[in-house]
Amino acid sequence: MSDTLKIAIIPSTTRPGRFADKPMAWIRDMMDARPDMQAEIVDLRDHPLPFFDETAPLSAKPAENAAALEWDAKLKGYDGFVVVLAEYNHSLPAVLKNALDYGFEGWKHKPVGAVAYGGSGGSRALEHLRLVAINLRMVPVGGAVHIGGGDFMAAAKGGELPAHLEPSARGLLDEVAWWAAASRDKRRTAVRAQAPAAE
Ligand SMILES: Cc1cc2nc3c(=O)[nH]c(=O)nc-3n(C[C@H](O)[C@H](O)[C@H](O)COP(=O)(O)O)c2cc1C
Repeated sequence: MSDTLKIAIIPSTTRPGRFADKPMAWIRDMMDARPDMQAEIVDLRDHPLPFFDETAPLSAKPAENAAALEWDAKLKGYDGFVVVLAEYNHSLPAVLKNALDYGFEGWKHKPVGAVAYGGSGGSRALEHLRLVAINLRMVPVGGAVHIGGGDFMAAAKGGELPAHLEPSARGLLDEVAWWAAASRDKRRTAVRAQAPAAE
């Protein structure tokens, strides 16, 4: 059984020309440089979901929609999540909220952190994401990257993300890794406990 943590990077936006691609590539490079994690981009563009139309929340019953079942099954393959988070009207983008609503078992008991961006560094969106994550029984981590102010403006005009953001990214990834390993160990123990005893 591999000890490398599987961490999904999820961009929160899908619109053409989105800024998300720049911080997504930046954090992916940092994750690829770590021996403890295997990063994979899970792009909501590749997982179009209808607006939530189930008869109950997925915490109460499994989804009926095939795309939603596929989405939650995909999430189950990861030990933790790093969201590349835009701020839309002081909150998280609706396409991300819909994708959060369309999972439950796949999110449960796993850490989520963010590389947030916007004029105010996406801080209001991240606070909302943390509240949503709590109800999904996730572990929102305190560490975060906030790309704001002049850093955001310069990067949106084509500049690189500055090196002074790297320590906060390392802190974020260390926290995601810690909780991802802890929660994965707990899941593995639970699976072993449920397995039938060998004859
Ligand atoms: C619908 C919409 C609402 C926005 N609201 C905010 C906001 O509340 N705060 C902020 O800092 N930026 C806001 N912006 C600017 C975004 O931070 C900026 O456009 C960013 O590039 C959006 O991410 P994206 O390019 O990945 O879609 C908003 C942009 C859009 C499209």
